[in-house]
Amino acid sequence: MNNKLIVDCVKENIDTICEIDKTGSNYNWTKNMFLEELENKNSFFKVLYADNKIVGYIIYHIIIDEAEILNIVIDNNFKRQNLGKYLLEQTLEDISKQNVKKIFLEVGEKNIPAINLYLKCGFEQYNKRNNYYKNGENAILMKKQLIG
Ligand SMILES: CC(C)(COP(=O)(O)OP(=O)(O)OC[C@H]1O[C@@H](n2cnc3c(N)ncnc32)[C@H](O)[C@@H]1OP(=O)(O)O)[C@@H](O)C(=O)NCCC(=O)NCCS
Repeated sequence: MNNKLIVDCVKENIDTICEIDKTGSNYNWTKNMFLEELENKNSFFKVLYADNKIVGYIIYHIIIDEAEILNIVIDNNFKRQNLGKYLLEQTLEDISKQNVKKIFLEVGEKNIPAINLYLKCGFEQYNKRNNYYKNGENAILMKKQLIG
């Protein structure tokens, strides 16, 4: 995948995002949840294009000097081609330019692909929440320190 581009998500992308989410993730969001992110002034909602096709997205919030990654999903047909790592690394670079000191996220304990990706990008576990998800799965809480 040579031709990659990360841009702001727009309303017209939401149906594609829902499809990617439905097929590519076990933690599905509703269409309304995505639409609310477009309206939220603290939210950054980015889509990743590869060869002119939307292949994934990331949503994160920044509040003062802390960021939270809410979700990152790569289309099933494009997984394991380093696209998730590319999207997360570019996002971390963007976040680091905004005076953010710490980045937080929650990830399902059984979600090995995502946990590995986060570890690879410098996140570390700092806590755990039992029965966090609807299906009873525990959540691993991870953080990455940027400054200080
Ligand atoms: C997590 C996710 C975004 C990774 O995207 P991806 O483009 O397939 O991942 P990449 O090809 O960039 O892989 C980067 C690293 O992630 C880890 N990884 C990715 N897929 C993996 C898998 N199936 N098993 C184990 N590790 C995996 C590896 O460490 C990998 O590095 P490596 O290729 O050198 O081994 C993708 O699996 C996904 O969309 N998952 C479903 C949605 C989700 O659960 N998101 C997280 C919400 S908290």
